[in-house]
Amino acid sequence: DQLVVAVDGPSGSGKSSVSKEVARRFGLAYLDTGAMYRALTWWCLDRGVDLADAAAVADAARELPLDQGTDPDRESVLVAGTDVGEEIRGARVTESVSAVATNPAARAALVARQQEVIARSGRRIVAEGRDITTVVAPDAHARILLTADERARMARRGLQNGGTPDAEQLHQQVVGRDAKDSTIVNFTEAADGVVTIDSSDLTVEQTVQAVIDVVVR
Ligand code: CDP
Repeated sequence: DQLVVAVDGPSGSGKSSVSKEVARRFGLAYLDTGAMYRALTWWCLDRGVDLADAAAVADAARELPLDQGTDPDRESVLVAGTDVGEEIRGARVTESVSAVATNPAARAALVARQQEVIARSGRRIVAEGRDITTVVAPDAHARILLTADERARMARRGLQNGGTPDAEQLHQQVVGRDAKDSTIVNFTEAADGVVTIDSSDLTVEQTVQAVIDVVVR
């Protein structure tokens, strides 16, 4: 049976770990759309594309030679055959990704690819990002907005970055990026029919359970 689960949320809300685990529990594919924006950003930086050149970034989005896996147990992101899985999580890409994500034509190109991935999965997939519940898959069977307060989001992102990040840089990477991102898509308020789960005081397992409750109800 078809089962599309759409999860949106800000940086550090826990949406990646939670989405992957929900995919495992239901035997679904998994799509990390943030990784797509990151891969596009990496490619633009690698080829010296001026991120302020809207037409050039849009061309890059249409041409991006991306091969992204959908196995929740084995994330793989290849650009032109190069494994960029590590580099797309680095500070260089993180600092530039919002600039790329604000490009409407680039977004349109990536949204179309995301919808293809969902279709190719036989509509058995958990897709996560910022605009999945609203733009990419507004017809998903379960639509969830995963939130968490700033303190929790900073703490989680700090742990992921190795535990001893520069506080200022971390704040910029989490709160600054959310501020930029929220000018593109509104992921701070749940759209009609979208269930909000606040994970500030929940463990990953409790959050997974809360999402599962929405999926099965
Ligand atoms: O690191 P974090 O989990 O916060 O972000 P991500 O999910 O990897 O997404 C990286 C960036 O891609 C975001 O900061 C947005 O600028 C952009 N993005 C987007 O615009 N729309 C999406 N559906 C997913 C990501």
